Amino acid sequence: MSLAPSGDPTKILVLGIETSCDETAAAVVDGCGHVRSSVVATQHELHAEYGGVVPEIASRAHLEHLLPVIRRAVRDAGITLADLDAIAVGHRPGLIGALLVGTSVAKGLALALEIPLVGVDHVHAHLVAGLLDAPPVAFPSLGLVVSGGHSSLYLVEDPISPILLGRTIDDAIGEAFDKVAAMLGLGHPGGPEVERLAAGGDSDAFDFPVANLGKDRMDFSFSGLKTAVLYAAKGQPGRTPPILDERRRADLAASFQFATIKAVRRNLRRAFDRHPEVGSLLVGGGVSANQAVRAMLQTEAAARSIDLRLPPLEWCVDNGAMIAGLGARRLAAGETDGLDLAPAATSRSTVMPD
Ligand code: KG4
Ligand code: ZN
Repeated sequence: MSLAPSGDPTKILVLGIETSCDETAAAVVDGCGHVRSSVVATQHELHAEYGGVVPEIASRAHLEHLLPVIRRAVRDAGITLADLDAIAVGHRPGLIGALLVGTSVAKGLALALEIPLVGVDHVHAHLVAGLLDAPPVAFPSLGLVVSGGHSSLYLVEDPISPILLGRTIDDAIGEAFDKVAAMLGLGHPGGPEVERLAAGGDSDAFDFPVANLGKDRMDFSFSGLKTAVLYAAKGQPGRTPPILDERRRADLAASFQFATIKAVRRNLRRAFDRHPEVGSLLVGGGVSANQAVRAMLQTEAAARSIDLRLPPLEWCVDNGAMIAGLGARRLAAGETDGLDLAPAATSRSTVMPD
C-alpha cells in the first residue's frame, strides 16, 4: 500500500527539521523541491571558545531555539502548521543528544497534527541540496558529500537510497580543515578561515601527501595529511620548530587545501571512469562552499559534459531545506516512519558490491 499523498505535488508541504550538530534549522519545501522558507540559527559563537562543537551545549541550544525556528519557517512560508502534510527530520547521523531534540519535536508535531513522520539520513540529504529550486536531474548521478563528518562518494539512482562507493577511513575532509585551522591559530569552524588564509598563499609551497588506498578504491584518508601539516607548522618532534610567520601560514593553508582538492579529484575521476553511465554530479556538505573546491568540480564536470548540481552556499552547510527535500521524496515514494523512529549516530547506506 502506498502512503504517498496523491494530487498536485506543489500542494504537498513538508516541514524539515535539522538538529544533528551545531545548526538549528527548519524549512518548508513542497513536493517538487521548491523551497517556501528556510531558517537556520547557528550556534558557532557558543562553541568557538572551545575550538569545536560541545555536544551538551549543542543539545541545550537546540532545545532553546528549535520551536522559534520552526515557528518562523512556517510563518515565512505564509502558512500555518495545519497546512503541513508531513514532518521530516534528520534522525541520523549526528550527535545523539542533538538528534534527540529534533526527533522528539518532530514526533510531537506529527502526533499533534496527525500527519506522517519521515526520518531522513542527513548525509543523503546533502545530496539533494543542489536539486532544490532547480530543474529535475537525470539519474543515475554520482554523489559527493564533503562535510565536517563525512567524505563520501555515491552512485545515486534515487537519492532515497544512494549506493556508497567510497568514504573516509579516518578524518572527514571538513574535520581536517577544522584541525588544520586550529594548528594555524584560526577560529572555529575552520574551513572558511583556512580558505581565506589560503587565498594569499602558494599552493605549491608544500608537497603534502594525498593518500592512495589502492587504485580501485574510492575511499579517502586525511589523517596523514593532517599530521604532515602539523609537522610543517610546528616542527617534527625533537627538532627546532620553524618560524610560523604570515607567509608560511598562508602557504601551509593553500598547500593543505590543494592536497584535499587533489584527493577529491582523484576519487571523483575514478568514480566517473568506473560509472560511465552517469550524466550528473550531486554535491553537498560544508566543504562544497569552498571556492577552490567548487572551481575544481566545475572543471571536472565540464570536461565530461556532466550536469553539475552545486548548491548555493547557504545550502552547502547544514540546513532544513535539504531535510525537507529528501523527506518529500520519501513521502512521495510512500515511505514514512512510526513514532518509534530512533536517532542514530551513524549514517546507513547500501554498499556497492565489489
Ligand atoms: O555540512 P556541514 O555544515 O556539517 C556537517 O554535516 O558536518 O559541514 C561543516 C564543515 C566544517 O568542517 C567546516 O569547517 C566546513 O564544513 N566548511 C568549509 C567551508 N565552509 C564550511 N571547509 C572549507 N571551506 C569552506 N569555505
Ligand atoms: Zn551536514
